Amino acid sequence: MTEVIKPKMMDYHRHILVCIGDRCTENGEGQALYDELKEKLKASSLDKGDLRVKKTRATCFGTCKSGPLICIQPDGVWYYDVTSEKLDRIIEQHLIQGEPVAEYIYHQT
Ligand code: FES
Repeated sequence: MTEVIKPKMMDYHRHILVCIGDRCTENGEGQALYDELKEKLKASSLDKGDLRVKKTRATCFGTCKSGPLICIQPDGVWYYDVTSEKLDRIIEQHLIQGEPVAEYIYHQT
């Protein structure tokens, strides 16, 4: 019989989901952005502490256009066409200062 083990998770302040699916980007840009995200969060000290950001890959958000697409929860903010440069601004303005970058948003709940 397989033992059921309760998973553990570190505390976090926000959660970024990055779509790595192949319908919102054509050449793996979503995965490349996800790979960059790890280093950028570390460089901004968002990989630990009170503002720690958890990151997760998703295979489709159901809004398959103009990726890379990312979602930031619990804020309910969805960004499109996220380049490395745009991600830098999102990290500084949204994740650190708490102010979403309005011109990059395609949906907000
Ligand atoms: S493949 Fe990215 S939103 Fe569908």
